[in-house]
Amino acid sequence: MIEVKNVSKKFDSLIVLDNVSFSVGDARLIVILGPSGTGKTVLLKAILGLTPVDSGEVLFDGKSIQAIDESEIYEIRKNIGFVFQGTALFDSMNVLDNIALPIVEHTSASTSEVKDKVVQILEIIGMSGKEKLYPRSLSGGMKRLVAVGRALALDPKYLFYDEPTTGLDPIMRDRVVNLIIDLKKKYAKSGIVVTHDLDTAKAVGDEIYMLKKGKISKVRQIRKEVYNG
Ligand SMILES: Nc1ncnc2c1ncn2[C@@H]1O[C@H](COP(=O)(O)OP(=O)(O)O)[C@@H](O)[C@H]1O
Ligand SMILES: [Mg+2]
Repeated sequence: MIEVKNVSKKFDSLIVLDNVSFSVGDARLIVILGPSGTGKTVLLKAILGLTPVDSGEVLFDGKSIQAIDESEIYEIRKNIGFVFQGTALFDSMNVLDNIALPIVEHTSASTSEVKDKVVQILEIIGMSGKEKLYPRSLSGGMKRLVAVGRALALDPKYLFYDEPTTGLDPIMRDRVVNLIIDLKKKYAKSGIVVTHDLDTAKAVGDEIYMLKKGKISKVRQIRKEVYNG
């Protein structure tokens, strides 16, 4: 369970998060919907403890990251897979090495254990047999799937998706959406999905919140006029 409690964040006079509260229950997908530049990425980074907040706190299973030291925050972060806006794959590494990177960096797994794990992940993301390909030969949607694969490398409890479907055609968007839903249903991964795409929000969200001018509010029914207004 992640609890975000009364979190506020300003950059100089720009109020980005204004008393934001919500929680992420186990095996739940929470969507934060909002147009570009509203603070969605800042919110994810604040929850991870990467961006310090001005006030409020974030609790992981009851433990406040504002009250613990850097090494404990690091342990908590290992439970979170972050799918970056724009994927952040390494062009010089093939699919296998991109997905394996967190395992190689953070564990002492042997080469064959790493390979087995990546093969498992490729099956989950629907890209079996593609380990030798380089990012340049993948479509935008495939890169997004690999980015999800890399976020899965350390078997995190939570997944944070930053604009997972932005810029994708409808077919690839559905593949990414279905993967996000599958990860929740079959593997009990909870997550936060930040997006400005209404269809993605509707398809994946167990709960949907709108972030606008720093304030968060729960959305009960998505209507275009609410979003644009
Ligand atoms: N490190 C920073 N310093 C100053 N302003 C920032 C910083 N990070 C983000 N911002 C500002 O905060 C606002 C929200 O940014 P962001 O969270 O990236 O928006 P979103 O992800 O919703 O598109 C933007 O106006 C952005 O310019
Ligand atoms: Mg963003």
